[in-house]
Order: sequence, then C-alpha cells, then structure tokens
Amino acid sequence: MRDQANKLREIVNKVNNDNIETSIESLKTSAKVITVTSGKGGVGKTNVTINLAIALSKLGYRVVVIDADLGLANIDVVLGIMPKYSLVDIIKNGKNVMDVLTTGPNKVKFISGGSGVEELTRLSQLELENFVRNIGLLDKIADVILIDTGAGISENVLRFAMAADDVVVVTTPEPTATTDAYALIKAIGVRNKNKTIRLLVNKTETAIEAQTAMQKLNNVAKKFLQVKLSFLGYISNDPFVSKAVKQQKPFAVIYPECTASKNLNEIAKKIMQEPTSSGKNSGIKGFFNKFFSSNDVN
Ligand SMILES: Nc1ncnc2c1ncn2[C@@H]1O[C@H](COP(=O)(O)OP(=O)(O)O)[C@@H](O)[C@H]1O
Ligand SMILES: [Mg+2]
Repeated sequence: MRDQANKLREIVNKVNNDNIETSIESLKTSAKVITVTSGKGGVGKTNVTINLAIALSKLGYRVVVIDADLGLANIDVVLGIMPKYSLVDIIKNGKNVMDVLTTGPNKVKFISGGSGVEELTRLSQLELENFVRNIGLLDKIADVILIDTGAGISENVLRFAMAADDVVVVTTPEPTATTDAYALIKAIGVRNKNKTIRLLVNKTETAIEAQTAMQKLNNVAKKFLQVKLSFLGYISNDPFVSKAVKQQKPFAVIYPECTASKNLNEIAKKIMQEPTSSGKNSGIKGFFNKFFSSNDVN
C-alpha cells in the first residue's frame, strides 16, 4: 500500500516537473545576442568568439556563430570548415536560414556573412521584412548567438555593437590596443550611454596585467565618458592558441585543458549570469529590428 502511494506521488511529481519544464521552454523564445568586437585588429576576436561558442556549448547552451567581419572573415579558417552558403543566400536567393547553417565542432552552428554583411545595409523594405522573419527562426534553435565583427569604429561595426544585448570589447594589454579599445568604447558610449560594455583582455602574461589594463580603461572611461564598463575576464597568452590555429581547430576542442581554454570556461559561465532581456525587441529578431532602424549611426 505504502509502495503504491509512493509510486503515485512520484508520478504526480514527474508530471508537474514536466509541465513546469514545458512552460519554461515555451516562455523562452529568444536567444541572447552577443557582439564580439575590438578597436584594433588581431587582438583575438575570432578566436575568442569560436572558443567561447565551444565553451558555452560544453555548458549545455545551443550556440550559433555569425561571421560579420567584412574584411577578414576567417571563422571558417579557424574552425576548419567550408560553409556552402552565406547570408547572401538568405538575402538574395531566398534560402531558409536553417539551410544556410553549417554545424561545426561540439554542435556549434555557424553562418558565414560573406558579402551579405554589406548587402544588409541596402535592403528594400520587403527584403528587410523577409530577412528578419527568416533569421528570426534562430531564436527557436539557439540560446546564444555570437557575432564576430571587424575591428574599428566603422558604421557597420557600430551597428552590430549597438543592436546587441551584450557587447564584448576584446583588447590586449598593449597600449596600442587599449587606445583603440578606448576609441571604440567612446563611439559606443556616445550613441548609448546606458549600454554596458564588457571588456575582455586577451593575450595577457598575468592576471595583474589584465586588471591593470582594465583599471586604466575604467579610469579614463569614468572621467571622460558616461558609459558603463564591466570586466568580463582575461585570457592568457597561451602557445596552444597558435598551435590550434595552425591545425585549423578551436583550442577549446583540441586542448581543453590549456590555460586559454580554462580562462574561457570561466568567461562562458560569467557571460550567461545576466538573464536575457525579454520582450519584443529581444533575440536575433529584436537585434535586426534595432540594426535596421539605426540608420543614423554616423
Ligand atoms: N590568448 C592567446 N594566446 C596566444 N595567441 C593568441 C591568443 N589569442 C589570439 N592569439 C593569436 O592572435 C592571432 C589573431 O587572432 P584572431 O582571433 O584572428 O584576431 P582578430 O579576429 O581580432 O583579428 C591568432 O593567429 C592567434 O594565434
Ligand atoms: Mg577576426
């Protein structure tokens, strides 16, 4: 008798839990969109984006990476995959976003921007609506969407930064990189002083070196800008990064125990701590709505 009662209780509990899970799932309809950018080129954006994607997927998140670097689009090179399609195929050839995705290591999905990134700024109203409806499907299949951009303060890069839920600015501790990071932070802050910018210091020799770089940027930002800077973390200068790049495989996949991989695991946990903003203008759909309405970025 007692056994039966326990069993019944178990069944009831399970049904309730399943229901709770289903309702949580139905509430969560948009992905967190994170733009990874930098003032100076070569500071490690592409490596950070890909390996952060891998680290997030290890934590159980479904991740899509969009390569939006106009000049040196090279995620495919670092990932070692050759995508068949790009954003152009969605915009011009009517392809469904699901068919344009390539699946890479750890089930991370990837879309190459190609010349589509430039096309985005020249769409007609109808093309624009179709594009947003189509790419909006990513909200259903991804928890996180990472966008790798070019470096600098071009109109295009700023648009990608302004439209994102989260902006990660990558720099190295070198003054040449931090000076350019400051110029970018300033350009973002001028457009929206309420935007939180998360700073990631890459290629550091010590944790102190990273903190010093962060502190210096924070001090000038506080003095001259109104923008909010937060320290996302640092990644050590690690020879395994270059070793992995030469093999065209993400270091987080082939050297999961290297220092850079461990640093990124911490960063992955930290970046997901803040909840995704809910509401109409969230997710990749919200992102592109904001992206297309920001014509006055310059
Ligand atoms: N943490 C790191 N340690 C050592 N080398 C790194 C690190 N991060 C990046 N690199 C090196 O810097 C180079 C540029 O990185 P990349 O990700 O292509 O930069 P970006 O996308 O900003 O131009 C890569 O070839 C890589 O070998
Ligand atoms: Mg790059």
